[in-house]
Amino acid sequence: MQYRELSTPVLTVDLDALERNLGRVADLCRRQGVGLRPHTKTHKSVEVSRLQLAQGAVGLTVAKVGEAEVMADAGFDDILVAFPIMGAEKLRRLATIARARRLLVSLDSESAAQQLSLAAAAQNVTIGVLVEFDAGGRRCGLDPGPDLVVLAKAIEKLPGLKFRGLMSYFGNVWGTPEQRRAEAEHVAELVTRALAAFRAEQMPVEIVSGGSTPSAEFAHLIPGLTEIRPGTYAYNDLNTYYQGACSFEDCAVRVVATVVSTAVPGRAIIDAGSKTLTSDLLGSGPKSGYGYIVEAPDVPIIKLNEEHGYLDITQTQHRFHVGDVVTVIPNHVCVTVNMHDEIVTLRQGEAVGCWKVAARGKVR
Ligand SMILES: Cc1ncc(COP(=O)(O)O)c(C=O)c1O
Repeated sequence: MQYRELSTPVLTVDLDALERNLGRVADLCRRQGVGLRPHTKTHKSVEVSRLQLAQGAVGLTVAKVGEAEVMADAGFDDILVAFPIMGAEKLRRLATIARARRLLVSLDSESAAQQLSLAAAAQNVTIGVLVEFDAGGRRCGLDPGPDLVVLAKAIEKLPGLKFRGLMSYFGNVWGTPEQRRAEAEHVAELVTRALAAFRAEQMPVEIVSGGSTPSAEFAHLIPGLTEIRPGTYAYNDLNTYYQGACSFEDCAVRVVATVVSTAVPGRAIIDAGSKTLTSDLLGSGPKSGYGYIVEAPDVPIIKLNEEHGYLDITQTQHRFHVGDVVTVIPNHVCVTVNMHDEIVTLRQGEAVGCWKVAARGKVR
């Protein structure tokens, strides 16, 4: 069946583009001499994780315990939970995973480490810990200096935990290629400062985990980095495109939607609203609109209701008719994927399969 005949709205992935994206970043990592631990938050899919590991990924990254459970149940090992996990119920589940899988958890406080230690010790397991530092994004993470060593030493004293290294998210490496390179150079200084604090105490740091999609090509500028965790690169999206970090052809995921009304002059309405595309605005490029319509690039999606997408057709030569099918490249693909139970796989426009978005909605 051709994608145009699918029941809409529907999430689709072009397998040729996906495979190209996975191969390109796996090669990039090999050339830069860093490991690749892809963040599965983008695809939330067992099938894509399998492809990433087959391309040489050193392990996987997740944000949630529920996501870790999905990937562990699928048989994958060496999973980093790159989020400080709090609360007895989630910590107990985390320790249960560690009974059968190598697990890493990142955190930035002694309080989080103590709670993790209690859960690990209760099930007689050892959980690896990466201490998070702030590489300039001002989200989580300690200042890259002696505070990191203090926390690492405290972790070493806690039962059930092993200090394995450092972790940071380079979300501040964003913008044009020039802006991203300059910020990556700043990150390099901070990583160097963090590692110097450990050297001063003769404390080994086995893993230095960093990265994101827009910073992936600059990993070689950051001395001491052992692995990167891009997620978006598998599917790409408009945010990645407008930073010059991918082409439209690399945007593997598209929402296929149908024009359901043209009754109001100057408007065409599609059956993809905020429950399909999400309300995430662009963080790069024009920073407006809710997606890119491939068939009519000059037509902005100016507003969303839950089920309705509003197209402004006042400035276009393109004629829209009720029943027309359009394809939309999402602004932020990770959250769009999280709205869908399944994703239809395409080869040259032909639907060839369907994957479950197995880790969608796993917010705990
Ligand atoms: C901790 C962490 N690591 C890695 C990533 C992946 O970044 P990107 O989606 O730009 O590839 C994210 C994204 O939010 C993240 O929060």
